[in-house]
Amino acid sequence: MSVIESGSLHSYNAVREIFEQYNDFLITFTIPAPSGMFAFIWPALCYNYKAIPNGRNDRRSRGFAQYSGKPTRYFPEHLQFIQTEKPGTPPPSKSLVFGHTFTNHMLTIPWSSLEGWGTPKIEPYGPLSLEPSSTVLHYAQTIFEGMKAYRDEHGKVTLFRPDMNMKRMNSSAARVSLPTFDSDALLQLIKKLIHIERDWIPREPGHSLYIRPTMIGTQKFIGIAPPSEALLFVICSPVGPYYPDGFKPIALYATTEYIRAAPGGTGAYKLGANYAPAVMPQKQVAKMGYAQNLWLHGPEHYLTEVGTMNMFVVLKKGDAIELVTPPLDGMILPGVTRDSLLSLARDHVSGTYKIPKLPEHFIVSERPITMKEVQEAEASGNLVELFGSGTAAIISPVNRIGYLGKDIHVPTGEDGMGPISRPIWTELVGRQMGTIPSDWSVPVTA
Ligand SMILES: Cc1ncc(COP(=O)(O)O)c(C=O)c1O
Repeated sequence: MSVIESGSLHSYNAVREIFEQYNDFLITFTIPAPSGMFAFIWPALCYNYKAIPNGRNDRRSRGFAQYSGKPTRYFPEHLQFIQTEKPGTPPPSKSLVFGHTFTNHMLTIPWSSLEGWGTPKIEPYGPLSLEPSSTVLHYAQTIFEGMKAYRDEHGKVTLFRPDMNMKRMNSSAARVSLPTFDSDALLQLIKKLIHIERDWIPREPGHSLYIRPTMIGTQKFIGIAPPSEALLFVICSPVGPYYPDGFKPIALYATTEYIRAAPGGTGAYKLGANYAPAVMPQKQVAKMGYAQNLWLHGPEHYLTEVGTMNMFVVLKKGDAIELVTPPLDGMILPGVTRDSLLSLARDHVSGTYKIPKLPEHFIVSERPITMKEVQEAEASGNLVELFGSGTAAIISPVNRIGYLGKDIHVPTGEDGMGPISRPIWTELVGRQMGTIPSDWSVPVTA
């Protein structure tokens, strides 16, 4: 490495220009700190761009990747496996409580703006070592995903549409200036982790291994800027069915006091920062006898999401039935379950794949829907059902909505599920559990 230039740079563009011109050399420079809000991001810029290794365009572009949102190629095929010396054994499936039990190992991959993605490791599950000044602890630089690995009746292990989780995680990373990554490479590593932990996937029907990929900013730095260091890790948790004793419809509280998301905000991303603020409103409604908040938007009280689920309303429209879900307008998380339900319902409508027991005259709509419309549908007897959708519960039927001091009553079927959600649920779960062959079911190989 040779030092060819030292000096002062006054703007981000100047830094870029120097990089373009002299990418074969080490460049050192200082950046005078400006005043005002830029003072906050300046230390990170200085840190990120203080050195360029000889002739390594790829390294240079890694440094910029977090600004450009371009995915970085990473994961040199050097996965290290450090086997635990104190292996635990999976508890009896009946005793599993969602999110409380973790498997023996975890996947970790460090990242720095100078080096890009480092060596991936599968290592014993255990505490992380973090500086108290780590950016995640102050500015919530954390994103996550939730997906499940299923074991079919022949013992084959599969993931359900994991490409969608990888895509969503990259989009969340870009939104909070965490580094983006190569989705295929991460998926391969996650498959290796699941393969190692396969004995933790319960054999009982409806059980699965919940996979939680997470990324955090780990730079020791007090200031608001893209972190120059990050850690991606993946942990696994065996889980039972959400409704072990049959479907239990839940009551919602349509809150006009709190919001989950707003236009231009972060509702469409899976950021840790979206979840903590929802806990207090959730506790408040629990005291009033409701299970979850129904998040509304705007003076018209548009329905958006249910707790941590997407939502669907089923309405009678003359001799037709309409399945409605709010559109992906930037405030709604693009759920994998939501997309799968819509896709199955649309295949039924187009005739590509007819779902038994769904009506012939069936309309599938991604459109805004207000509380007034739901109230009117209840009053006219046209409200057929309302349910939430998500990886954890798959479908969660709703039987009551508290709204402006009154309860709206939502019909539910005898077994808790409605006449539209039940047949679509059967199709979806069949594809997840492998009883209905599908491209959505991705084998986990060694
Ligand atoms: C806010 C929110 N909406 C919707 C969903 C459902 O998304 P998915 O179907 O991908 O689990 C989730 C769960 O991940 C969520 O946290």
